Amino acid sequence: MHKSVRDIVTKKNIKKISVLTAYDYTTALLCDKSNIDIMLVGDSGGMVMLGYENTIPVTMDQMCFFTEAVSRAREKSLVVADLPFMSYQSSINNAIANSGRLIKAGADAVKLEGGRAIADTIGAIVEIGIPVMGHIGLQPQTTILSQGYRVQGKTKNSAIKLIDDAKALEEAGVFSIALEMITKEVARKITNTISVPTIGIGSGPYCDGQVLVLHDMLGLYEKIKPKFVKKYLSLSQEIVKAVSSYKKDVETGKFPSKDHCFSMDKSELEKLKKELE
Ligand code: KIV
Repeated sequence: MHKSVRDIVTKKNIKKISVLTAYDYTTALLCDKSNIDIMLVGDSGGMVMLGYENTIPVTMDQMCFFTEAVSRAREKSLVVADLPFMSYQSSINNAIANSGRLIKAGADAVKLEGGRAIADTIGAIVEIGIPVMGHIGLQPQTTILSQGYRVQGKTKNSAIKLIDDAKALEEAGVFSIALEMITKEVARKITNTISVPTIGIGSGPYCDGQVLVLHDMLGLYEKIKPKFVKKYLSLSQEIVKAVSSYKKDVETGKFPSKDHCFSMDKSELEKLKKELE
């Protein structure tokens, strides 16, 4: 049996929550095997899997495709999927319909960006029974349009707005809130103010859990190197090394060796030779 939303909520103040992004079957199998609490099918997949500059072009079809692959791999983790840009902002009906599509694709819950301004939409999704993770602070789908990638909560006014947004989302019924690139002081205040877990990315140590983009922490995607990422591997270097060795082996005939070949039975080979003579 995989983890439930309730299992995640009850971890608050007891044990930190581990979250990583996942977009494909093979890496989702490995994250699930590592017993990660939540696999987040993030719209960051548009960047690390599809090569977009940012998350704005990501479509519902692409998110469903990623979500189906991840949910096929999952045995233990909770699967949360992002609603992409403009899949929930235009109307509540649209938000509900698209949340339903992600659940049918295998997600247990959806995540969407925004504070008080989007609370009614979140309330409506929760009301029909779909669990929602909120997302405040830096909101890649829209903040970058006006401000670029900037730390949030640096001033008193910005801090008060973030705390108010978090309270509005809690009232709307979210089961957790992702806090992206918020100063550690404000993230701590929010975490101590609301009853549901906060999941930080670049928001310091006081959050109830942490999330990273899998490709960043594995050192696989090197186009952007955010300060808050801890790199646990340099996988891109390892892969380039392996692929270059393979190329050399093919060119020099070192691969394939006898270990990588199939042989005919000796008697069958003799019969073949006779037949062909
Ligand atoms: O898409 C994503 O990877 C996310 C995380 C940054 C929280 O939303």
